[in-house]
Parts: sequence; structure tokens; C-alpha cells
Amino acid sequence: MKKQLCFFLALIGLATSAQAADLERGKSLHNENCTHCHISMMGGDGSAIYTRENRRIESLDALRKQVNRCKDSLGASWPPDQIDDVVFYLNQTYYKFEE
Ligand code: HEC
Repeated sequence: MKKQLCFFLALIGLATSAQAADLERGKSLHNENCTHCHISMMGGDGSAIYTRENRRIESLDALRKQVNRCKDSLGASWPPDQIDDVVFYLNQTYYKFEE
């Protein structure tokens, strides 16, 4: 019985992790964890770092790499789906790269 329950829970886990990236979750993860450094650099709400003229990120791949780098400097260990959510949020909101 226990084994079946575990299997069932694992299936649910798989199903939810296979879901498309979640904009709202990405936004709240971002706003809770990612703004303090950017605000101290750029002022305002910090989002100017994503729209500045000399911004560094020129592709979705580069965006993902930068999110990973910045996440590492937080010392946070985020599962890949949380990275996906934040990348999705930043891309939808600021960068708008084609997939
Ligand atoms: C410890 C401070 C710090 C934290 C925390 C931080 N960042 Fe950053 N972030 C930086 C710095 C510094 C840069 C600019 C790097 C540069 O210009 O070379 C940057 C740049 C970026 C850029 C690129 C902006 C551009 O030029 O297009 C992105 C995207 C980004 N951060 C995402 C995030 C995300 C997502 C998080 C949360 C997981 C986060 N950052 C948390 C310091 C931080």
C-alpha cells in the first residue's frame, strides 16, 4: 500500500514539474529574491537593469545563464522549474526574446 502511494505521489510530482513555466510564480520568486541588489545598483524598483541601454543579455540562453549566475550569488539552490519560472517572467515582462 505504502509503495503504491509513493508511486502515485511521484507521478503527481512529475506531472506538476512538467507544467509550463508559471508567470505569477516567477514574478513572486523574482520580487522576493532578486530585487535588492538591482535596486541598490539602479534605484527605483531595480527593473531598469533589464532595460538599460547597455544591457548584457541578448538571447534567451544568455538570460537563463545570467539568472543562474545571479541565483548562485544569492546562495539559493533553486530547482530548475523555479529558474524556468523566473526566466519566463523576465522574458515576458522585459526581454521578449523569441523562444
Ligand atoms: C548579489 C547581488 C545580486 C542579486 C541577489 C541578484 N542579482 Fe542580478 N545582477 C547583479 C549584478 C551585479 C548584475 C550586473 C552584472 C553586469 O552588469 O555584469 C546583475 C544583472 C542581472 C541581469 C542582466 C541584466 C542585463 O544587463 O540585461 C539579470 C537578468 C539578472 N541580474 C537577474 C537576476 C535574478 C533573476 C536574480 C534572482 C535570482 C538576481 N538577478 C539577483 C546582482 C545581483
